[in-house]
Amino acid sequence: MQLLDGKLVAEKLREAIKVETARLIDAGVDPHLAAILVGEDAASQTYVHNKEKACQQAGIVSSVYKLPESVSEKELLELIRFINKDDSIHGLIVQLPLPSHIDSLKVIQHVNPAKDVDGFHPVNAGRMVQGLPSYLPATPNGILKLMQHYKIETEGKNCVILGRSNIVGTPLAILMSRKAYPGNATVTICHTKTANLPDIAKEADILVAAMGQAEFVTAEMVKPGAVVIDVGIHRIPDNDAKSGYRLVGDVDFAEVSKKASWITPVPGGVGPMTIISLLDNTLKAAKKEIWP
Ligand code: GUN
Repeated sequence: MQLLDGKLVAEKLREAIKVETARLIDAGVDPHLAAILVGEDAASQTYVHNKEKACQQAGIVSSVYKLPESVSEKELLELIRFINKDDSIHGLIVQLPLPSHIDSLKVIQHVNPAKDVDGFHPVNAGRMVQGLPSYLPATPNGILKLMQHYKIETEGKNCVILGRSNIVGTPLAILMSRKAYPGNATVTICHTKTANLPDIAKEADILVAAMGQAEFVTAEMVKPGAVVIDVGIHRIPDNDAKSGYRLVGDVDFAEVSKKASWITPVPGGVGPMTIISLLDNTLKAAKKEIWP
């Protein structure tokens, strides 16, 4: 088994981002990413904090707008309109999930597509489907960059994706079936209503676990020699750990790593690649590469 070391690859790519950011600043453009964080969800707070840290390391300006859980949809939309109009802000992400009284799909549609560095706006998502220039969602694009770095073969392979979210599973399925590298794979999406999920997973040459259930993928669901990509991250109680918990993914790493040819660790796999892709999109926004 070999590790798909996202932390290492992200560090290498971060250098290029730093250089490009410095070049833009010299040219009079200060790349700026804004994030809106609603409520106190611990995982969302961690993600947003990590994004802020990564921006600072790369020289990208970062601002976080924190709103209480009780904020109304109207107030949130007003903030988005305000940021849309601010020419000094190039990228805007609204951290998901949002509280249940807010319609996430409606909120996403209010982000200016030119600033939608998550690639979640229907116009960017539609452009991606048709192969037009668009912001690619950060997690799927981070997975592609990781596979590219390690020269993982994808053409003609069976790629099984567990999870159909708009953030990971669905866009990754589109990207992996594109006529491109990485891509040209035969893709299957599995979800909560899939019959015989373990049998389908076992046929995968490339298995992507993005269903958000701790250690769901066991060794019996994995074909020997498969490439296994773990998108999940969960805290589980661990009395032996100083913090009282440890981080695990959607894959039972200890067992599955004995069978896989390549596997992402958790943490240090997909997570750092997601952040790099977001920074990359922010530079694209600052350069008006996708939306002139
Ligand atoms: N929540 C989990 N992943 C993401 C992401 O990539 N972007 C946003 N905005 N929210 C998320």
